[in-house]
Amino acid sequence: MTEMISVLQEERIFKPDPTLSQRAHIPDMAAYKALVVQAETDHEAYWAWEAERLISWEKKWDRVLNDDNPPFYKWFEGGRLNASVNCIDRHLGRRSDSSRSGRKNKAAIIWEGEPGDMRTITYQELANEVNKLGNVLRQMGIKKGDRVVIYMPMIPEAAFAMLACARVGAVHNIVFGGFSAEALADRIDDAKAKLVITADGGWRRGAIVPLKDAVDQALLKCDSVEKVIVVERTKQRIHMHYGRDYWYDDLVAEANIRCEPESMEAEDPLFILYTSGSTGKPKGVLHTTGGYMVNAARTTQYVFDLQEDDTYWCTADIGWITGHTYVIYGPLALGGTSLMYEGVPTAPHAGRLWEIVEKYRVNIFYTAPTAIRALSKLGDQWPQKYNMDSLRILGTVGEPINPEAWMWYYRVIGSERCPIVDTYWQTETGSICISPLPAATPIKPGSCTLPLPGMKYAVVDNDGNPVKEGNGGMLVIQRPWPSMLRTVWGDDDRYVETYFAKFGDKQFYFAGDGARMDAEGYYWVMGRVDDVINVAGHRLGTMEIESALVSHPSVAEAAVVGRPDDVKGENIFAFVVLQDISDDDFHHDALVRELRDHVTKEIGPIAKPDGIKFTDNLPKTRSGKIMRRLLRDIASGRESKGDTSTLEDSTILEQLRGS
Ligand code: WTA
Repeated sequence: MTEMISVLQEERIFKPDPTLSQRAHIPDMAAYKALVVQAETDHEAYWAWEAERLISWEKKWDRVLNDDNPPFYKWFEGGRLNASVNCIDRHLGRRSDSSRSGRKNKAAIIWEGEPGDMRTITYQELANEVNKLGNVLRQMGIKKGDRVVIYMPMIPEAAFAMLACARVGAVHNIVFGGFSAEALADRIDDAKAKLVITADGGWRRGAIVPLKDAVDQALLKCDSVEKVIVVERTKQRIHMHYGRDYWYDDLVAEANIRCEPESMEAEDPLFILYTSGSTGKPKGVLHTTGGYMVNAARTTQYVFDLQEDDTYWCTADIGWITGHTYVIYGPLALGGTSLMYEGVPTAPHAGRLWEIVEKYRVNIFYTAPTAIRALSKLGDQWPQKYNMDSLRILGTVGEPINPEAWMWYYRVIGSERCPIVDTYWQTETGSICISPLPAATPIKPGSCTLPLPGMKYAVVDNDGNPVKEGNGGMLVIQRPWPSMLRTVWGDDDRYVETYFAKFGDKQFYFAGDGARMDAEGYYWVMGRVDDVINVAGHRLGTMEIESALVSHPSVAEAAVVGRPDDVKGENIFAFVVLQDISDDDFHHDALVRELRDHVTKEIGPIAKPDGIKFTDNLPKTRSGKIMRRLLRDIASGRESKGDTSTLEDSTILEQLRGS
């Protein structure tokens, strides 16, 4: 059995608003198709053209793509550049010097803290801060290639830290501030980091996240770390280790504001970012400098259509790849204005995000489906309190977005005016891979639509052969691309095995997602293939059944898993979060019947859940992805084995088991 059957029928289609075309980088479908043809005619020439157009090189490359030793590809070999120069220095010159200049006094970062404090950092100020911190790093003995762990809240100093590492050639390894001391220790240890940059704490839902305490605890186990830099943010009492820990402010106060950028080879590492699969220890995904920067800038320009005067807001934390590429490197490489927000979407009130949109007249807004579902559950009255007519483009990332949530986002947040770019990509791909282009692509809710130019995707069976149109299969990339991961840090074998071994000599990249392609070449991601449910020989993706459940007015969120079944192999079990939970609903047989009938009506009897359990929460990772592996264990009455350290709320498993 190699294919998945697809049951979702979504007929709606939304054409781009012609007024968007007037200024857009890719104004229409013809322009998109021309780029696709250009990339297919001469792949390397296409990427060379993008690299030249988007990035400032100290020295041009000798070879665009070195594929002598697959899957260890090299891009722009021989080229030299520095990522921080591309994000900062080249914007500072006078306007006449080049089209990239003239931004010295433009806001690079607009920051809002959770308590409502604010800071705007111009490109010149960003230059000064990054240069000073770069000099501090060098004084502390940090050299090109050394690993630096950043464990920080969403404050401007986190951006300074990333760019200062890039400036001196250190490899940053950001650990999300919500991870525990344990998870932090594993990541420090795996990367053998010499330095940790942290803060006393960060604000989250009005409470302090004690980051420095977690660092202290982690360092009891890690002996590679020599020094710790601490930003003062929350001002509670912390313990400073004499000779190891230094206050950020003291260090930069004395530092020179000119720091020579390290000249980096295109293939020199820029950062490591750990990502957890469903099993095994987290993988350190390694990204290098040249190819990553080219595709970060390219995709920010094409997908978000970033314009000179835009206020652009990606809500991701810098602890995730989305924060790396679309809060920092992409928008700053283009000289854009990137908004950073420290807190959670619902503190101190459920309209916090919309309030910020109104306050800064945000034009482009990019967030995750899990946030959209959570915020839609709180009612339309919150967004309706604010004037959001500045918005031009909306985006989502991280999971398939079900058409129901898509429609809410479109209607209530975008006032049926803004295209939604449903961007499909991964930590490993570095940049967006499949996505609508806002002024060009007709959009079907729930589909991430078409691959970006140069990205060669297919849906294949177990042998790597394309499946029939409309059928589900494995989503693969058939050709290398510049922002791909280069290896798993310290484990080349794991890199090959995890991503390139499945289809033998074909060298297709496969990272676990199931999808189908429709008659118009649109991609529909059906969920992780590990989560596929096999009912009487039919393989069903989780996304489509969940989406059918969520289209029922009483349902806010749903997760479905397979449970062993003597007759059918597996049967379908659904965990359902209701829109308004009243006690009566909890064991409501009538509602269970209604939901089963609803799924039957929406997609057919094959997808009808055998069991439904109501709950007030689902187990999620801290980036909002549902951990179906844990739900499978609960549905089948097994103990959960494997890593649960990335779970957002550790009490959730007992709650689910208990009720
Ligand atoms: C899922 C986040 C459907 C997918 C950038 C992928 C999506 C994983 C989408 C990567 C989307 C991400 N539609 N599924 N638009 N975007 N995914 O590494 O399963 O945190 O493999 O990168 O998220 O998650 P990661």
